[in-house]
Amino acid sequence: ISLRTRQLCAVAPVIPVLVIEDATQAAPLAQALVAGGLPVLEVTLRTPAALEAIAAVSKVKGAIVGAGTVLTPEDALAARAAGAQFAVSPGSTPRLLEACEALDLPLLPGAVTATEAMLLLERGYDMLKFFPAEASGGIAILKALAGPLPNVSFCPTGGVSLANAGDYLRLPNTVCVGGSWVAPDDAIDARDWERITGLARDACRLV
Ligand code: 3PG
Repeated sequence: ISLRTRQLCAVAPVIPVLVIEDATQAAPLAQALVAGGLPVLEVTLRTPAALEAIAAVSKVKGAIVGAGTVLTPEDALAARAAGAQFAVSPGSTPRLLEACEALDLPLLPGAVTATEAMLLLERGYDMLKFFPAEASGGIAILKALAGPLPNVSFCPTGGVSLANAGDYLRLPNTVCVGGSWVAPDDAIDARDWERITGLARDACRLV
């Protein structure tokens, strides 16, 4: 069930987590990240501009856009309608899983504990978001989960940065990481797309 999600996670080492306040920033921001080598992008549903931003990014050549902060079936439906090709959630609920399955929308659901991961695995999800990564125990927890749950892979997100991303990416059960550090608010506000392309390039050099 999560084969397509796993393929999306394997495209690049980092999935930028984007908080877009102004939808006119979305396309140039996506172009900057694609140019830097990060084509898979998560636009969080945390701003009024988010759905319009997803629609704009879906038209950017080379970009693969997903919706983040997908909490409800309604979020999943709206994200899909806007052009999202996948969804990311900080956790999972039976209703959300059902909705994404009904929409055929690949989902990267969040999990931290063995029980959460096992419930998702039982339902066919073996590619999970490990969130909030640093606050939950980070690398030590992922190492501990790799023993009993060798078939589960993670995209750690939350507190990941250029400084620690390489350590996460070296773990056998980490396919990619997610993070906002490649698209900082101040750079987006200043429309400093060159800086963002540089941050993306730095992130790609991690592997
Ligand atoms: C989020 O959903 O906010 C992501 O986890 C991003 O976290 P970060 O800002 O710590 O990268």
